[in-house]
Amino acid sequence: MMAATNGTVAPDVDLSTALCDIELRHPVINGSGTFDAIAARRAFGDELLDQFPFSAFVSKTITPEPRAGNPPPRLWETPAGLINSIGLPNKGLTGFLEQDLPQLAELPVPLIVSVMATSHDGFAELVEGVASRDEVAALELNVSCPNVKSGLIVGESPEEARSLLERLRPLTEKPLLVKLTPNIADPVPVATAAAEGGADAVSLINTLRAVALVPGKADRWLGGGTGGLSGPSVRAVALAQIDAVAAAVSVPVIAMGGVTTGRDAAEMIRAGGTIVAVGTESFRDPAAGSRIAAELGQELPRISG
Ligand SMILES: Cc1cc2nc3c(=O)[nH]c(=O)nc-3n(C[C@H](O)[C@H](O)[C@H](O)COP(=O)(O)O)c2cc1C
Repeated sequence: MMAATNGTVAPDVDLSTALCDIELRHPVINGSGTFDAIAARRAFGDELLDQFPFSAFVSKTITPEPRAGNPPPRLWETPAGLINSIGLPNKGLTGFLEQDLPQLAELPVPLIVSVMATSHDGFAELVEGVASRDEVAALELNVSCPNVKSGLIVGESPEEARSLLERLRPLTEKPLLVKLTPNIADPVPVATAAAEGGADAVSLINTLRAVALVPGKADRWLGGGTGGLSGPSVRAVALAQIDAVAAAVSVPVIAMGGVTTGRDAAEMIRAGGTIVAVGTESFRDPAAGSRIAAELGQELPRISG
């Protein structure tokens, strides 16, 4: 069932690569929060492990304390995308370590854990708790959140991003990836500040702030009020931001935003991405990661050629 769309990566095409010294069998990973590997294992059984669609797995973002997430409705479809207002429901650090980590550690690929907090101390607690676990290859810092002390969204302020990285960098030698927000006029200063603060890679884009209205009314559809737009409708915006950030930083760029085909993934690499992440497309097709990696194998010679 996992192989429902076009099979797996052709064995004669070597797509192996590395992200911050983590060896990957191909350059396609998942975007945080868009593939529930634990639910997929329940649905597909061990077939999921045999045909895992991604070369590394990024967990859904976890926070220090459990969160219920936003009230429904949580999703709205646009003509070429999805607005979500999930609100980061998660079990919190302790619940993640006790219940989810042992299951995610069984995946046949390196594990990247996405973390978010509203204070430096909260981020530090997450980094210390997660990075000390052997099962974890790297951490992704989701900085699309306010620092309650300054009131600023960390990912919208170069100073906030730099000071957060300076606080977290000494806590672990494991790679720290920073997931940038696209909801800013120019992502380059934040990306540069994060890299100067010690980030090993940057990932972009996260979702674009968006609103949906109840048809025929002025009321907001989503229970959370606003949401984040993803899918093909954001791809051109993602390409512009990836292109600008990749030209400015020397750390690897994990490129995402509306990737649905190998050709889209190749464009992300041409724009400066080292690794490509697939998000919304996996809701339509849980095997999308494998298909896109296989298609990328056909496209890559054209990139280098
Ligand atoms: C339903 C949903 C949940 C998401 N949850 C997270 C999350 O927990 N943490 C995070 O950093 N990004 C999250 N994202 C953003 C994706 O990882 C990705 O950055 C974004 O959707 C753009 O890629 P795409 O267009 O391929 O989906 C989520 C996106 C969607 C659609």
